[in-house]
Amino acid sequence: MTIQFKQETFRDDFTFSNSPEAIRRFPFPFDKDEYMYAVNIEQHMPGPAKSPFEFPIDIDEHYVAEMQDRALVLKEDPLRCQSLPHMITAEWDLLELLMESMAKNYPEHFTLTKDGDRWRWVNRPLGIDQSFTFGDVSTLPYPPMEYVTRQCQGDFCLLDQRHDNLWMDSGIVTTQADWSLDFDIGMNFMEWHAPVPLAHDLGVFERALKFLLNLQQGRPVRRLNWTMTINPRLDTSPENYHKWGKDRTTVTPENVGDKVHLRVELQALWRLPRSNAIVFSIRAYMIKMEELVTVPKWGRRLHRVLRGLKPELVEYKGLSRYHGMTVDWLSKHDDGAPTSPGF
Ligand code: HEM
Repeated sequence: MTIQFKQETFRDDFTFSNSPEAIRRFPFPFDKDEYMYAVNIEQHMPGPAKSPFEFPIDIDEHYVAEMQDRALVLKEDPLRCQSLPHMITAEWDLLELLMESMAKNYPEHFTLTKDGDRWRWVNRPLGIDQSFTFGDVSTLPYPPMEYVTRQCQGDFCLLDQRHDNLWMDSGIVTTQADWSLDFDIGMNFMEWHAPVPLAHDLGVFERALKFLLNLQQGRPVRRLNWTMTINPRLDTSPENYHKWGKDRTTVTPENVGDKVHLRVELQALWRLPRSNAIVFSIRAYMIKMEELVTVPKWGRRLHRVLRGLKPELVEYKGLSRYHGMTVDWLSKHDDGAPTSPGF
């Protein structure tokens, strides 16, 4: 499957947009007219052809532009990629997982050949041809996690498992919805989730952690999470809040359709073979309201979800300033027809 990679930006002039095919495959996350936190974890099984769930690692038309944006973020702020020394085996595990998956499922774009520990990686969209020795960091231009994730869409955290908890001891995080790896590094599952409202009292995190501690190799799982972003900006980090926070004040009833984006995170988790660590991938998909309502059932449903969203979630997700305007705008796309469960 040959993908036409787009030239586009996620900052300054914001030329990002979705092609009609990208709109059709958007991972719309709401299966009901209302939304509340839950342990929404399912097996990461191959999904329908051309959907973001078809392959374990999804590469799409935004690949090249996203990798350029990641390089810019890392240049400005190297602390977006951090790894504690004991995570080096997990880093190699991650490199293997991503290279194998990308080469197997997108052979026109990526090739991996192995001769024992001597590996050769060819990445055609980014013009890379690298021979290296698996397990020998001196043979790569970056440490293994940074090397491979500069070439793979989505953020990645590597979690060490000890004392019946998961510890965020490594990660590369450049496309995050307002949280900081530099702040969270070394924290455990309950600590980094501390700011999330309501979910702790519902027992969501206790159950999710218990489930993840038993995650088996070869049986990855996934979940969807969502928020909203003004302008198609990938890097909405606390570190850069001074650049994007003010965007929230620029929404008007006239520009909602263009400025307000639904941002969906496809999050997947794998147990890694050598290190016994877990990798947590966070792949962000964005769609502006004008694009979203081209699928009438999505416009209808998002209107209802946002209209009924609990104030604690409106506040935590940072929607307060433009929530009302967005609900009003979407109401014109809700004819009141009943919706059926599912997507
Ligand atoms: C939010 C990381 C797994 C549910 C967050 C945040 C981080 C994070 C950094 C932002 C917290 C903040 O405001 O600073 C991770 C990592 C995971 C993981 C590294 C891998 C083990 C899960 C799982 C669940 C979950 C399995 C399942 C219930 C949530 C929810 C939020 C959240 C509900 C709030 C999201 C929102 O409203 O936008 N997570 N998480 N997380 N996480 Fe996780």
